[in-house]
Amino acid sequence: MSAALPNGFRFSAATSAFQVEGARTADGRGRSIWDDFLERPGAIKDGSTADPACDSYRHPEADVSLAAGLGLDRYRFSIQWARVQPEGRGPANGTALDHYSRVVDALLDAGVTPLPTLYHWELPSAVEEDGGWLERDTASRFAEYADLVAERLGDRVRHWYTLNEPAMTTLQGYATGALAPGRQLLFGALPTVHHQLLAHARAAEVLRAHGSSHVGLVNNHTWVLPLHDTPEDHAAAHAYDIIHNRVFSEPLLGGGYPDLAALGLPDMPMLPGDLELIGGSVDFYGINFYNPTTVTVAAPGEPIPFDIVPTPGVPVTGFGPEWPIMPEALRDLLVDLRRRHPQLPPVIIGENGASFPEPDRAGRVEDADRIDYLAGHLSAVAEAIAQGVPVEEYTVWSLLDNWEWADGYTQRFGLVHVDFETGERTPKASYDWYRDVIARHRAEISR
Ligand code: FCB
Repeated sequence: MSAALPNGFRFSAATSAFQVEGARTADGRGRSIWDDFLERPGAIKDGSTADPACDSYRHPEADVSLAAGLGLDRYRFSIQWARVQPEGRGPANGTALDHYSRVVDALLDAGVTPLPTLYHWELPSAVEEDGGWLERDTASRFAEYADLVAERLGDRVRHWYTLNEPAMTTLQGYATGALAPGRQLLFGALPTVHHQLLAHARAAEVLRAHGSSHVGLVNNHTWVLPLHDTPEDHAAAHAYDIIHNRVFSEPLLGGGYPDLAALGLPDMPMLPGDLELIGGSVDFYGINFYNPTTVTVAAPGEPIPFDIVPTPGVPVTGFGPEWPIMPEALRDLLVDLRRRHPQLPPVIIGENGASFPEPDRAGRVEDADRIDYLAGHLSAVAEAIAQGVPVEEYTVWSLLDNWEWADGYTQRFGLVHVDFETGERTPKASYDWYRDVIARHRAEISR
């Protein structure tokens, strides 16, 4: 299978700061929307607090050596804004930057290129209190934060993700409230799309001014399927595709927002020059892919015109029918994106992986279901490349079992099992499988 991946193809694995670091009050860290959200009664499935999680803030070297042991080209991790600017503005907290600087050095020493994400969902509470992503000013504050980080790390870090999954922030953070900050504004959440894209574009300018050569954003993409082959379900699927995928990808890749008025939605809060800044602001386009989404038309009079329903006839992950498994959906999505955007920049799969019910104890986990999932999706990537899609890198979510947001510790995604009581890390069968995939690919291309 890996023979089909081209020479130079890169392998990566990912974590995010809030999900692995713990140490939520260490070294003057400020509060973020996730600290606030997890305190809401009932917000987190198992009532857990993301502390100590994997204790990675205190022991980053444990993660670095696992990343190096896989033979990864790059390791995707994230930096917490509320550590660097506890109040979301003002000077940097030098101790926090020292920490991330040590992580960068440890990765470089281990021969793994650091690929940090500046924002993986934990907006400083102080920024949310000022309106969060509903406010245009948040884009400027994000660019200031990016400047502080690049000032310190930019001599060694040349490759960055700005934002992780703005689609989830809009849809689940501000529209439905399933994730922090837990607002339920339905289509009132739409301005957060534009402000996040603007934040990305402004930060990209800042990072390039510090000499970075490779700046991108990574969004969640889904492949939308109508439940029935009827005009109504096709229209519902089209609307969902716009809201989840295209409202983000098209201004970044194609020169403007899709026709929102045709869906009865308001225009974006744009000012002159915004679209020019956003268009072409990515050196690469990051895609996180987990599952397809099947959609049917909503009952008349519902505030949202589509309903998300289980995808018929496919297996599911630990989340049940919410996360159906369909690797070919990743291939189809990539091929479709290239068809819509013939000048597509290099694509990175920034996350792909699955949780399955697994024993909650230290010891070897034989996760054949995860290996199947990952192998299927890697094949789908190879097929998309064969059809001309410029995918350059694949990233497994996640290097480690970690704190899965509103699902707490109930969903394990790691190549490595983590005992959340002791911090002990034990590679699963999937870790060995991925290490071998990477080694075999290198051996084949060097022949
Ligand atoms: C993605 C998030 C990541 C992780 C995976 C399972 O949407 O970016 O942090 O939670 O889902």
